Amino acid sequence: MNTTEQKKRILSAVQPSGNLTLGNYLGALKNWADLQEDFECIYCVADLHAITVRQEPAVLRKKSLDTLALYLASGIDPKKAAFFLQSHVPEHTQLSWVLGCNTMFGELSRMTQFKDKSQKHADNINAGLFTYPVLMAADILLYQADLVPVGSDQKQHIELARDIANRFNSVYSPTFTVPEAYILKSSARIMSLAEPERKMSKSDPNANASIFMLDRKDDIIRKFKRAVTDSEAVVAADPNRPGIYNLINIYSCLTGKDEKEIEREFEGKGYGDFKLAVGEACADALAPLQAEFDHLTKDKAYLDEILREGTEKASWIARKTIQKVYRKVGFYQSQK
Ligand code: TYM
Repeated sequence: MNTTEQKKRILSAVQPSGNLTLGNYLGALKNWADLQEDFECIYCVADLHAITVRQEPAVLRKKSLDTLALYLASGIDPKKAAFFLQSHVPEHTQLSWVLGCNTMFGELSRMTQFKDKSQKHADNINAGLFTYPVLMAADILLYQADLVPVGSDQKQHIELARDIANRFNSVYSPTFTVPEAYILKSSARIMSLAEPERKMSKSDPNANASIFMLDRKDDIIRKFKRAVTDSEAVVAADPNRPGIYNLINIYSCLTGKDEKEIEREFEGKGYGDFKLAVGEACADALAPLQAEFDHLTKDKAYLDEILREGTEKASWIARKTIQKVYRKVGFYQSQK
């Protein structure tokens, strides 16, 4: 096995802006845990990003620590990965300013997430919502990350981070590693249970549309039972039948079975049996994680200690990058 120095580096983050969903787990956290043996991993709780939408301060504080606990409960070993809160490493905002001066207004105007969120929050289309992808590029480029494991909704942001890195490197000489998105086909886009044409989202006001990582078994079973499907009543992986297709995909991610195996397993059976099986597989996968979460959140001193260690490591890398960037753009540095 490689030494840490030779391993490629991974950076990723989740916004603590609500209750994490099965989409966050399958699209991000589960993959992070699977990657930790082979990569040097840095995982951030993106609290700066969260305030682009109005947050209740006490709730944000709690969700930030809960998100850290969910990272750990998902099986990511703090000995193998660094964890920190974005607001604890001020270099994110410092780099964000410099990168913002190397990002075009037109590029940011094309971001689909900005368009979606401005529609959803028409009363609060703030400048942070617009420049959000620059901060995300700073998160990634600050750590010279090689790979960024995310769901497919973040692909456009990572492409922008690549464009910004390439532009900066060509104007100021090579400075940043140009990152690549790491997106698994199967878990890239977990869809809503109520409207399977839309992605499952922690900000969906309909609680039945999403499975939350901390939902208890009864709720999970009930929500899958009510999941929107169609009238064909045949368990077949057909992308034109988005409801059942999504459930097959979820079942596949949870059990490791492929589409054909699943179709065979439920041949001649109705949607009722299938939905129950998906619900049980989901509850079984989440139960140990929930027990670990309950245990971890009782020990704030331990969580703080993980943060202290992770922040120290992240800050060391971040400081090196920001010094290099400041020098390259021509900021005068006093002689020591
Ligand atoms: P966020 O908080 O919306 O989502 C966190 C992660 O979960 C993935 N995800 C999904 N994957 C599959 N199906 C879904 N329904 C689903 N919903 C969410 C997201 O793709 C993401 O990987 N801007 C980011 C947070 C961020 C970040 C970063 C990510 C800030 N800085 C730097 C990577 C690198 C966000 O809002 O993710």
